[in-house]
Amino acid sequence: MAEPPQERTALRMVNIEKYFGSVCALKDINFEVGHNEIVGLIGDNGAGKSTLVKILTGVFAPTSGDLYIADRKVETNSYTVKKAHALGIETVYQDKSLGEKQVMWRNFFIGREMTYPFGFLKVRQEKAIASEIMVNTIGFRGKGIGVESKANKLSGGERQGVAIGRAMHFEAELIILDEPTVALSLKEVRKVLNFVHKIKDAGKACIYISHNISDVYEIADRFIVIDRGEIVASITKAKISLKELDEFLLEYSHGLKDKVQP
Ligand SMILES: Nc1ncnc2c1ncn2[C@@H]1O[C@H](COP(=O)(O)OP(=O)(O)O)[C@@H](O)[C@H]1O
Ligand SMILES: [Mg+2]
Repeated sequence: MAEPPQERTALRMVNIEKYFGSVCALKDINFEVGHNEIVGLIGDNGAGKSTLVKILTGVFAPTSGDLYIADRKVETNSYTVKKAHALGIETVYQDKSLGEKQVMWRNFFIGREMTYPFGFLKVRQEKAIASEIMVNTIGFRGKGIGVESKANKLSGGERQGVAIGRAMHFEAELIILDEPTVALSLKEVRKVLNFVHKIKDAGKACIYISHNISDVYEIADRFIVIDRGEIVASITKAKISLKELDEFLLEYSHGLKDKVQP
């Protein structure tokens, strides 16, 4: 029988370490994200989640270790946020993803404006694309929000939706959401979770970081638990119920970790 085709990965980290001076923020980080996998990254404050994300997105270089994106090795010393974009990695932050006073159509193209050879902005094209994303990808319909609205007119959940819609439009292969629902109402959180379902349906990958375990449970295919800079568990959703995951994390934070790591 023929070998099954090799699973492609969106991302792979091999023995990644990150020191800030003498402080070790990440140690022996080994994991991968499949090309259409949603991974929930779980850990206490200071565990190293954001540092891990910043290495992936070209903000920080790791102290050592290897990084592969879409199965290709990245030269980490010269890796930048711009290169990460070019490789299809987009990050959606809590609330700083949009320029507050900018109109929507401009917000979609920040850092990647469409211009004519002499530098003039392709305003008409940008507006048409922004409108297409707002209606079709994000589903803004007849709510008084259009391409000419300013970002500060949008609710928190809508902002997250715009940032995710933008990432999807630019065909990000891996979208990272680092605590996207902090300070959102329940209704808004629902919107963000629905956007993450759309990322899955669109065949893309996602790393979702949140303190809310039931949110993470709903959208993720697999959970990675990180504690004090080390990955301590990787559990697929099929193998654990929400209650069991909750119990595991509770037990873990109440001493199991000290038994595991003397
Ligand atoms: N730029 C930095 N300089 C020095 N230390 C940092 C920096 N960024 C993060 N750290 C440290 O690295 C550790 C992990 O932080 P972080 O990745 O932000 O955790 P998390 O996102 O899981 O809350 C913390 O001890 C934090 O103080
Ligand atoms: Mg963080």
